[in-house]
Amino acid sequence: MTVSESVRTASTTTASTTSAGAGHPAEGSALRPHAEHAFADELTALAAADDRPRPARWRLSPWGVATYLLGGVLPDGTVITPKYVGPRRLVEVAVSTLATDRALLLLGVPGTAKTWVSEHLAAAVSGDSTLLVQGTAGTPEEAVRYGWDYARLLAHGPSRDALVPSPVMRAMADGMTARVEELTRIPADVQDALITILSEKTLPVPELGQEVQAVRGFNLIATANDRDRGVNELSSALRRRFNTVVLPLPATPEAEVDIVSRRVEQIGRSLDLPPTPDGMAEIRRVVTVFRELREGVTTDGRTKLKSPSGTLSTAEAISVVTGGLALASHFGDGVLRPGDVAAGVLGAVVRDPASDRVVWQEYLEAVIRERDGWKDFYRACREVSA
Ligand SMILES: Nc1ncnc2c1ncn2[C@@H]1O[C@H](COP(=O)(O)OP(=O)(O)OP(=O)(O)O)[C@@H](O)[C@H]1O
Ligand SMILES: [Mg+2]
Repeated sequence: MTVSESVRTASTTTASTTSAGAGHPAEGSALRPHAEHAFADELTALAAADDRPRPARWRLSPWGVATYLLGGVLPDGTVITPKYVGPRRLVEVAVSTLATDRALLLLGVPGTAKTWVSEHLAAAVSGDSTLLVQGTAGTPEEAVRYGWDYARLLAHGPSRDALVPSPVMRAMADGMTARVEELTRIPADVQDALITILSEKTLPVPELGQEVQAVRGFNLIATANDRDRGVNELSSALRRRFNTVVLPLPATPEAEVDIVSRRVEQIGRSLDLPPTPDGMAEIRRVVTVFRELREGVTTDGRTKLKSPSGTLSTAEAISVVTGGLALASHFGDGVLRPGDVAAGVLGAVVRDPASDRVVWQEYLEAVIRERDGWKDFYRACREVSA
């Protein structure tokens, strides 16, 4: 048995990783199915329609992967829903990077869909988004390289059977896409373990006098938060191994409303919330409040505003509206109203009770109160702010 084979055997017997496998919930019952399951129909239709050349072990061509992310209509009429709403070029750069020997680093402020894009890229390229290392300040080297099953190690000494491969090692052995979340939070010495993997495409196992060589098709997608930069700044040696793609905040209010309404609809469906006939007015309102406070100026450019300490990301706008929909459908008349989103907006804006409350009160009285057609929203906000 080669190391690669033993790695594959071991990967089906260890429970310590996030792989879908024996513990996989019955079809349709997972609270949050992985992208490759949630969009299995689209991926199958794309694979059938995609006649362009595919890099080694890719499920789709780069064109197919980009279409999966950005959406489109196939010749047979199958609709591919857009997963990422943003500049096409960014997605094309990300996808083509994965077809080279350089790894991909998705960078951006919180809530700009870095994790989301990483998951969908892995699902479309390799059909598996679960080869995932979650970066934290406590991520050990074993999470990136390999560990040992200590019972076996003590009983039989170092052997292939006692080796517990990391998701990265499994991706190398099988020519798949590995994912590392929050790369900059990982301690510098653990990050360094990635340098050999990315430059030499090999992972030595000195205890066994062997190595795992990456099979063609292997690549890695890392995400990192702009705001975390400096926690563990990437070494320049590691940074050189990556092509960086910066995911921006939505450029226009319309784009952000589009993202929020799409995602809310999808999430609502997965939570079995009844469809809300006209939530658009409230979605627009939430997006307007978030954008104005984030940018520190009203949409008309007339009034300067103080920004609160929170990020008020698109992701948070999605949560506020989803929370509002749950209120509307369980305790209201099923229509999303100002009272259903007011508490959520307040919670997102006022993170630091001391400083943010002042920011909010000023915005409430100077902007929300004076705006045409916002009386109901003003009243609802007053009620929850008291
Ligand atoms: N441009 C966009 N297109 C589609 N979805 C988006 C976009 N921006 C944000 N989202 C949505 O926002 C949600 C959160 O995104 P995600 O968790 O990937 O953000 P992140 O950049 O990883 O944030 P963090 O830095 O906090 O980890 C997802 O549900 C995603 O669909
Ligand atoms: Mg993330």
